[in-house]
Amino acid sequence: MNTDYHNIIVNQDTSTCIISINREKKLNALNRDTLDELHHAIIDALKEESIRGIILTGVGEKAFVAGADIAEFPAFDSIAGKELSLEGQSKVFDVIHQAGKPIIAAINGFALGGGLELALACHVRVAAQNAQLGLPEVSLGLIPGYGGTQRLTQLVGRGHALEIILTGDRIDAEKALSIGLVNYVVPLSELLIKSKNLLSKISKNSPRAVSAAIRAVNASQTTEGYEVEMNEFANLFGTEEFKEGVHAFLEKRKPNF
Ligand code: CAA
Repeated sequence: MNTDYHNIIVNQDTSTCIISINREKKLNALNRDTLDELHHAIIDALKEESIRGIILTGVGEKAFVAGADIAEFPAFDSIAGKELSLEGQSKVFDVIHQAGKPIIAAINGFALGGGLELALACHVRVAAQNAQLGLPEVSLGLIPGYGGTQRLTQLVGRGHALEIILTGDRIDAEKALSIGLVNYVVPLSELLIKSKNLLSKISKNSPRAVSAAIRAVNASQTTEGYEVEMNEFANLFGTEEFKEGVHAFLEKRKPNF
């Protein structure tokens, strides 16, 4: 696995790949180079057989990601704006959303704008107690451009999503937990431990079934969701992992996936 990056740090800890955005002085804002590196690191981790899950986090104790890098914006027109959104979505945000391995956002501080959208694209979100989450784009004369209007609405419902997007206000970790925006809130010192524990629990299950479940859950947001679930469910009956899982249960032993 390539670990030679400038804007991110990639570590493998047993079967977990930890990708940390490393622009602490700029509160880990996502510039073009960072998105590019994230793209390559995530694709590599998804291909690497020994990796069963990914944790995304930010370096430092202040920010997960404070958004897209606003310093790149002044020269942008509508065409550049569209390109930014399309490229970001196809290279990073959609790749995470549709990844066949679980990806957890370990939110260690500010998750704003594109930073919250990055966490929203992940499959599970664990927040540190100091986390502050929000979509302040309207205060810049924009709206979220990396899928935030869609993924936030799907996660917390139209009412909460519209309040967060229209006010641009930040909410704290406990409020985020109360509306289902994050799955857990833990002390900052336990953020990676909790995220790793979740991944290790998931890793005990059949990787094929985990991938299929992600695809089926994602399809719930399309009209074909039930059909996708049915096909994914049926296909799994033809796999070795299914046989191992069922035999292990019947033989009263743990499955070996
Ligand atoms: N882009 C570029 N630089 C950023 C940044 C961002 N999103 N967020 C913070 N920074 C930089 C600051 O400019 C500052 O740099 P300098 O030291 O060189 O001046 C450094 O990070 C530290 O930030 P602050 O001094 O502002 O730190 P603070 O503690 O006073 O405030 C903050 C923290 C409230 C998070 C504030 O930095 C802030 O409001 N940041 C912008 C948040 C934002 O609007 N995000 C949305 C971006 S738009 C977007 O994401 C569009 C999209 O959907 C695609």
